[in-house]
Amino acid sequence: MTGGHCAIRGTFFDFLDDPWKHVGQEQDAARFIADGLLVVKDGRIEDFGPFTEVSARRPGLEVTHLPGRILMPGFIDGHIHFPQTRVLGAYGNQLLDWLQNSIFLEELKYNDRDYASQAAEHFFTALLAGGTTTCQAFTTSSPVSTEVFFEEAAKRNMRVISGLTGIDRFAPPEVVISPDDFYKESKRLIERYHRRGRNLYAITPRFAVGCTDAMMDRCRQLKEEHPDCWINTHISENPSEIRTAREHYPDCPDYTSVHEKHGLLGPKFTAGHGVWLSGDEMRRFSKAGAAISFCPLSNLFLGSGLFRLGRAKDPDHPVRLSVGSDMGGGNAFSLVRVLEEAYKVGMCNNTMLDGSVNPREQDLAEAERNKLSPYRAFYLATLGGANSLYLDDILGNFEPGKEADFVALDWNAGQAAMAWHQSLAVGDGGPETMEQAAKLLFGIMAVGDDRNVDETWVAGRRLYKKAAG
Ligand code: GUN
Ligand code: ZN
Repeated sequence: MTGGHCAIRGTFFDFLDDPWKHVGQEQDAARFIADGLLVVKDGRIEDFGPFTEVSARRPGLEVTHLPGRILMPGFIDGHIHFPQTRVLGAYGNQLLDWLQNSIFLEELKYNDRDYASQAAEHFFTALLAGGTTTCQAFTTSSPVSTEVFFEEAAKRNMRVISGLTGIDRFAPPEVVISPDDFYKESKRLIERYHRRGRNLYAITPRFAVGCTDAMMDRCRQLKEEHPDCWINTHISENPSEIRTAREHYPDCPDYTSVHEKHGLLGPKFTAGHGVWLSGDEMRRFSKAGAAISFCPLSNLFLGSGLFRLGRAKDPDHPVRLSVGSDMGGGNAFSLVRVLEEAYKVGMCNNTMLDGSVNPREQDLAEAERNKLSPYRAFYLATLGGANSLYLDDILGNFEPGKEADFVALDWNAGQAAMAWHQSLAVGDGGPETMEQAAKLLFGIMAVGDDRNVDETWVAGRRLYKKAAG
């Protein structure tokens, strides 16, 4: 991989393990270095540790000091839609109406290379301003939008996953693509982009409502012929959608079995939402090594429902999880805001399961697993997301050898009252302990937004610096 060289001194926070495996002692999953040094060569982490130790073994480095910031691995968005950049936050409808009335016609514009290129500027600028350095993105059923997406990501040297969207029903005729054309174009795009630079390819059946058996079979064929590729889709997002999917697939007892039937559920498979998945379906996800992208901004914005976070994190059947903005179903790019909404969803689930609503549904362990501490939240946005995408060997924390994507968070930025709020947790000198840093991080996710992202670095190069203001 090509990339930049740099040596960054500052306060670092990352994860070595899943905090849900350390209930009551989540800090054991994290690593905090109050004064650290990160050495990057050719876009990869070459050395990392306390400043005194690393600088002693690497004399003569030109060091960039970023005081007053918490440095974290770049955020990973497991589910986002490139062609919805201009229509995020559309008023009024639930999923199926929203797609027909607010989305498909906008996506059609991405058949035009100039429009798609202009959109890509806005898309990647907004992603980086939110601290997101990797995303798994939907494009459209037009190969042009997929080409533009990969080419623009490559210009920025970003690690991305994407692919042509398969949809052969439930959309205007100009939007659908036949299974044969989808297969042919997907193969061409895989050969042209997969593992070129940091681009990775996802075979992308949009969702069961929009994909016939023939389309799903073509996806299976593509996966068999290109087993190294990812699979990206939607599942069990909205009750009307689920009912419609059941009508289309009467032989499938539930939504997950549509993907099982077509040989898709397995490692490197991610489905967005999963709001209404049963416990049994989650167990099958866990066993298959498949992942769910938890998209709380979207699940609330489109009125889809409350994802059962604590159930997905059942220690006997844990499901790999990322967080996703699902922009434009989600009304922001910012994963900080996604974490805020995820926290609120977790709190609602916690209330439902604590026995005070229905004593017979009390499940205190599952209730607790819904509590999104800053450890759990930022794990999902970094190492957890990488793990869900089978990228944790190259992304997600500051281990030497990994790709050097990171963000500098300013805990005092954002709302006017933020600095005073944060001063309850820490003095002017910044965090000295992991606990203090975690309090600042919780302050960012509870009260902050993308204004707390001061800088975003991709493969050792700074691609975003917040304007002074
Ligand atoms: N299901 C199928 N397509 C979409 C989409 O574009 N957004 C969301 N949120 N769900 C979908
Ligand atoms: Zn989506």
